[in-house]
Amino acid sequence: MNSAQLDRLFQFLRFPSVSTDPDRKEEVAACAEWLAAELRVIGLTARVCPTDGHPVVLGRNEHRSGRRTVLIYGHYDVQPVDEPRRAPGEAPDPNRHWMSPPFEPRVTDGVLFARGAADNKGQIFAHITGIAETLSAAGDLPVNLIVLVEGEEEIGSEHLEEFLRAHREELACDIIAISDTGMIQKGLPTFTYGLRGIAALELKVTGPSSDLHSGLYGGVVMNPATAVARIIASLHDDTGRVAVPGFYDGVAPLAEWEREAWSRLPLGDADLQRLTGVSALAGEPGFTGFERIWARPTAEVNGIGGGFQGKGTKTVIPRDAFAKLTFRLVPNQEPEQVMDKVKAHLRAHCPPGVQLEILGGHAGEPYLTDPHSKAGTAAQRALTRAFPGKEIALIREGGSIPIVNTFKKVLGVETLLLGLALPDCRAHAPNENFPLENFYAGARLNRALLEELAGG
Ligand code: BES
Ligand code: MN
Repeated sequence: MNSAQLDRLFQFLRFPSVSTDPDRKEEVAACAEWLAAELRVIGLTARVCPTDGHPVVLGRNEHRSGRRTVLIYGHYDVQPVDEPRRAPGEAPDPNRHWMSPPFEPRVTDGVLFARGAADNKGQIFAHITGIAETLSAAGDLPVNLIVLVEGEEEIGSEHLEEFLRAHREELACDIIAISDTGMIQKGLPTFTYGLRGIAALELKVTGPSSDLHSGLYGGVVMNPATAVARIIASLHDDTGRVAVPGFYDGVAPLAEWEREAWSRLPLGDADLQRLTGVSALAGEPGFTGFERIWARPTAEVNGIGGGFQGKGTKTVIPRDAFAKLTFRLVPNQEPEQVMDKVKAHLRAHCPPGVQLEILGGHAGEPYLTDPHSKAGTAAQRALTRAFPGKEIALIREGGSIPIVNTFKKVLGVETLLLGLALPDCRAHAPNENFPLENFYAGARLNRALLEELAGG
């Protein structure tokens, strides 16, 4: 990458396009405008399309009949930077735990650090670079191209389905490609054929009409923070299985071939333990770590709060407490059905004397495709060209890209997931990073992929 290109990638990363934060709405919109302009600079036509949420950026080359149409999807929104762990009484500080500020990109030893570097601005910019290189070398692309970059992926792509339905003809394509998944190891080309789905909710427990002195009233009221703890504790049994009745209904078993293929990967439970820094792995018995992450559903607490958080002590019974939960889902679980079961379970485990309010959040379906399809095989040839001499890892991923199954339902098109983020990319966490080496590989991969897909 020359310094002008790096400078442009830095510009992209400087936008604090945090989609979940209403105070960042204008910066999200500015990022979309910048991106559309960038697509025009490399020779595509592009526009920013408003939605009821954050805008969608659409770009395309001139389409010619007789050519395959490839849609490249990505997202320009990013996760919040606020670190989830804060010592009692400490003010929020978005820069805490970041070695350099999240929206001031920096390259250290060939690795780019910034919020969005690995999720997903770095990869989008790699695609843009690959497209620009092909256009300047050959004057044209081998395919009809549609670039769709949205601003709400990190909040569940709430308005994208409606956008797809409204623009179905303009978005008609043969295949979709996404570089927003991981590589199992540096230099190891990885083809992802499955994603977990997701369902989010927030629960709030309210008790006494005001905070109470815990000496004067402790012993006669149900403490809302205790109630939240009891509700959360009811989500798993002692072995680590999710205890919501019917939660595992319809879960597709792992195929023999994938258990076998995954067992041959050069990474396993010891690596997961090292990567996460825990003293022991946990979770559902009977499965390896990757099997649990890639092919089994889970219940996760993303946040919990209530009561006194300041320095020192305060003898108080809080009037309310809350928790934010997400459930990762696998084929063939239906987010809505799972949510109904979860809500009934949560209500059944709420102790008397407090009120439980459940707010539904975003939801996305799981995805599974055939890695040996014609397009899947073409994508694997492109991976081999971008990473010569390396055997391709065929995996599923534990993360979610909610729109992928919707692409299939609304546009009738399968998606190829060609990951570039490394296991220690720290997506969603402080010090998110992306090696420049992967950026170059991404640009190479884009060029090879468009050529391979042009062939059918
Ligand atoms: N790029 C990730 C998803 C991902 C990462 C898939 C690595 C596979 C491997 C994506 O941007 C993401 O984080 N999605 C969210 C979606 C959710 C907020 C609806 C997720 O999975 O938490
Ligand atoms: Mn993400």
